Amino acid sequence: MSTPDISHISSEDYSLIYEPAEDSFLFLDALEKEINEIQEIRPQICLEIGSGSGIVSTFLAKEIRLQLLSIILFIIVCFLYIDRCTDINPRAVSITKTTGLKNGVSLEAVLTDLVDGLAERLKKKVDILLFNPPYVVTPSEEVGSSGIEASWAGGANGREVINRFLPLVPELLSNTGIFYMVVIKENNPDEIGSILSKSGLKMSTVLERRSGPEFLSVLKFMRES
Ligand SMILES: C[S@@+](CC[C@H](N)C(=O)[O-])C[C@H]1O[C@@H](n2cnc3c(N)ncnc32)[C@H](O)[C@@H]1O
Repeated sequence: MSTPDISHISSEDYSLIYEPAEDSFLFLDALEKEINEIQEIRPQICLEIGSGSGIVSTFLAKEIRLQLLSIILFIIVCFLYIDRCTDINPRAVSITKTTGLKNGVSLEAVLTDLVDGLAERLKKKVDILLFNPPYVVTPSEEVGSSGIEASWAGGANGREVINRFLPLVPELLSNTGIFYMVVIKENNPDEIGSILSKSGLKMSTVLERRSGPEFLSVLKFMRES
C-alpha cells in the first residue's frame, strides 16, 4: 500500500499544521494490517477527527477504492462511500482537501471542534472512525488552541481532548463500526478500554511501537458481538 503524495505541503505549512511523524506512520501501518477486516464491513462512511495533513484519510480512501476496484463493485460502492474529516485548525482543513485531490480522492473536510454540528447527522452511521489525537502530556492551559499546539497538547495525562471525545464514540459508530485511535502509554490505554467497555465496546491493540521517548499504540474498538 502506497503512502499518499504530500509533496504539495510546504515547510511553511508545517509551521502551522502537524507534519506526519512516527505516530501517523504507525496509524497507516495499522490500517494496512486491518484492511481486510475494514473491507469486510463494507464501509460507507469513514470519519477522521483531527486530519492534519490529510495523510490518514487519504490513505484509507485510496485503499478502499482500489480494493473495491479489484472486486468490481467500484461503481456501486464508490457512489456510496463518503470520507469525512474534521480539524479544529483551519489550515489543516484546507490542506486535507488538497491532499485528497492530489491523490485522486474526495474528502469532505470540515472545520469544527471534534464533531460539533455533525454528530446528530452521523449518529450510529460511522463505519470507520479514526483519531490520532493530541496525546502529549502538557499543562492544561496549552489545550484548546486552533493552531499548531492543538496537534499535540493533550493536557493532564494527555487525555483532555481524548476524554471529551470518548462519550461520542458509541453515539457515532454503526452496529458493525470500528474505532481506531493512537495513544501513548501515559494516556493509560487500559483505563480508556474500561471507559468504552461500559458502552459495550471491546478494546484490542492493533500495533505498538517505541519511538524515542514515546511508546505508541493503535487501539481498536468494536461492539461486542
Ligand atoms: C497528532 S495530529 C494528527 C494529524 C494527522 N491525523 C496525522 O495522523 O498525521 C492531531 C490533529 O488533531 C487536531 N485537533 C486537535 N484538537 C482537535 C479538536 N478538538 N477537534 C478537531 N481536531 C482537533 C489538530 O489540529 C491536529 O491536526
